[in-house]
Amino acid sequence: MSNIIIDHVSKTFTDSETEVHALHDICLKIDSGDIYGVIGMSGAGKSTLVRCLNYLEVPTEGHVYIGDKELGALSESELRNERSKISMIFQHFNLLMQKNVIDNICFPLIIKGVSKKEARKKARELLKTVDLTDKEKAYPAQLSGGQKQRVAIARALASEPEILLCDEATSALDPQTTSSILGLLRRINQELGITIVIITHQMAVVREICNKVAILEHGHLVEHGEVDEVFLNPRTRAAKTLLKYEEAESDG
Ligand SMILES: Nc1ncnc2c1ncn2[C@@H]1O[C@H](COP(=O)(O)OP(=O)(O)OP(=O)(O)O)[C@@H](O)[C@H]1O
Ligand SMILES: [Mg+2]
Repeated sequence: MSNIIIDHVSKTFTDSETEVHALHDICLKIDSGDIYGVIGMSGAGKSTLVRCLNYLEVPTEGHVYIGDKELGALSESELRNERSKISMIFQHFNLLMQKNVIDNICFPLIIKGVSKKEARKKARELLKTVDLTDKEKAYPAQLSGGQKQRVAIARALASEPEILLCDEATSALDPQTTSSILGLLRRINQELGITIVIITHQMAVVREICNKVAILEHGHLVEHGEVDEVFLNPRTRAAKTLLKYEEAESDG
């Protein structure tokens, strides 16, 4: 199983007129088996950071290691192979609307050249894992948000990843549905041993399932460590603001 090491990673987006420094010199280690939360306000660089983990964004400076492989040093085909160990889920699920549930889950397998019969067998097992067996033939438009996210999770698991990246995966869901999806992610972490990185702007999500947390502010890593430590003893303004925000949310 693979640790993730983010080693002095910076990312600057440049066009003809402007430069956006999205990440500044980030160093972070995510251990195999962690459920690692990355939090920060909008624009802090959270999505950019996780996209650097699978090289959907190539860092301007620094290195990303998955296990002993440095992503920047790999050939195209080696990178593809490393990427296949990493799956991603999103706020808006990104399902194929013209395909039903089982075909959505089969899709990455069919692309990989798995036979239709094998793909369906695997997809049915995954539907069991995400507790959605009765929705096999439904289309995404016929599902609730929570059900759509379960399909997206099943699809993400189809390639048997070691790492699951979740970019605001519960941000479009109500608190109860959020809890059930977080419960599913915890089960996936424990039973399948998959390392999970969760990007969120909700402290409550971190509190509920993460063992470690990193706080980003304006592209800087301002705090990181065990969730209990960071939450009990926030040192920076960014952490204090996020915690206060959470208190205000749960009061109201
Ligand atoms: N492709 C891009 N080109 C130019 N600038 C970009 C690009 N992607 C992100 N940025 C900029 O980088 C900064 C960080 O963006 P990012 O999407 O990582 O933030 P975020 O923390 O995920 O925010 P949110 O919570 O709103 O999703 C922002 O200023 C954003 O405008
Ligand atoms: Mg984002």
